[in-house]
Amino acid sequence: MLFKRVKPLDLILATAEKKALKRQLGPVQLTMLGIGAIIGTGIFVLTAEAGQKAGPGMMVAFVVAAVVCALAALAYAELASMVPVAGSAYTYTYGVMGERLAWVVGWALVLEYTIAASTVCVGWAGYVNGLLASHGMGLPDFLRVGPLDGGSFNLLAFLIGLAITLLLVIGTSKSAMVNTFLVLIKVLALTVFIVLALPKTQDANFHPFTPNGWGSPMGGIGVLGAAASIFFAYVGFDAVSTAAEETKNPNRNIPIGLIGSLGVCTIYYLLVSYGAIGSVGAQPVLGPDGVALQPGTPEMAAACKGSEALVCSKEALAHVLRVLHHTTWGDLVGAAASIALPSVILTMTYGQTRIFFTMARDGLLPGSLAKIHPRYHTPYVITLITGIFVSLFGALFPVGALADITNSGTLFAFMMVALGVLILRVTQPERPRSFRTPMAWVVCPLAVLGCLLLFFNLSTKTLVVFFAWAAVGLVVYQLYGVRKSHLANGTEPD
Ligand code: ALA
Repeated sequence: MLFKRVKPLDLILATAEKKALKRQLGPVQLTMLGIGAIIGTGIFVLTAEAGQKAGPGMMVAFVVAAVVCALAALAYAELASMVPVAGSAYTYTYGVMGERLAWVVGWALVLEYTIAASTVCVGWAGYVNGLLASHGMGLPDFLRVGPLDGGSFNLLAFLIGLAITLLLVIGTSKSAMVNTFLVLIKVLALTVFIVLALPKTQDANFHPFTPNGWGSPMGGIGVLGAAASIFFAYVGFDAVSTAAEETKNPNRNIPIGLIGSLGVCTIYYLLVSYGAIGSVGAQPVLGPDGVALQPGTPEMAAACKGSEALVCSKEALAHVLRVLHHTTWGDLVGAAASIALPSVILTMTYGQTRIFFTMARDGLLPGSLAKIHPRYHTPYVITLITGIFVSLFGALFPVGALADITNSGTLFAFMMVALGVLILRVTQPERPRSFRTPMAWVVCPLAVLGCLLLFFNLSTKTLVVFFAWAAVGLVVYQLYGVRKSHLANGTEPD
């Protein structure tokens, strides 16, 4: 029942040939695409949240999350190099575990891509609101944050979402060029931060190292709770594999893009978090009972009023530099984040549209969604719909909650990919693999365990949203996809 309607991999490859997107991305553009998707709100904004959850132990959280991602990346690379078509984990699952699970994975990827894009819209708005306020041009509270954060509508998050959508409708090559430029700015800003913060580190700031301990299942706190949240800082590297269909020589270039972008980002995150903790400290804010408060709650907001603590900042890196009296550099890093974070929104929204495009091509979503624009050659219908939702979620929800929901969908998709590698090793051992996961029987099970560990260290609220979303997805599949599927009906489009 579960493994019904497995789409033969050869058929997947043949379908991709028919409605092909143009192959135009090389290894450097691909690595840039990866870095563009990875470095963003995670390091620039959620560092504060990780500090509140883990204290200086957030460094361990960064490592734990990186290890899980590296394991998952190795699995991703094998499947991406075997099935170099758009659709990422969704497509792989279709070819290995069948349509129903593929649909659930595709549905979970909506959390990964759409909600991640919204998260970064909110992160971006935080930095821009900060810059505007520091120059006496701050927006009124009700337009600065969403309803759960004490406002009504996050106007800037909404507007940036719409702007990026239009860029994507206009076309890949133009937006990829803009992306490359923004990636450079982002990397430069992190480099400046590291150079200025590292010399100011003091041993005392690392004690106590794990004030909230390791955390407990579904508690969303402690080192593992922080790892489950800060995992967001790595989300995005698989956007590289969703671009496989538009990549030249994908068998070689996709693995380079995946592993290369993840490696560069991990090194940066460790240096940045070391600098931030060591220079200004990262101890959590405690409630009256002496227990660390949950970030993103009214109690935390009240406790943070007027506080200089890193864990209270909405623009963590700029804040650290200001505290260190590098005011101008702080403003510049803030400006860099404001200029560069949109590249993440762009990559995530792009990834989402290509996954929907593939699902529509398979008949699981209405075919009209996959319509290509006659002039711009982009799937404009699905891009516009996705963009509107990205913008609305950004306008209405807080950054930490969005990040955690993103993580739930992503971790689920990663688990399925790692399982898929192992299943294919057994069922199709002869199929050519230009990239083989090293020690797959160790790496893939560890990837699954790592994902489970982080998944169950998300808060209870987040997991409830995840399972509710999955249930809705199954109903939608039952009402539409199960009847319309091209695979089931033998109606693959010409
Ligand atoms: N990893 C991306 C970010 O941190 C999604 O913004």
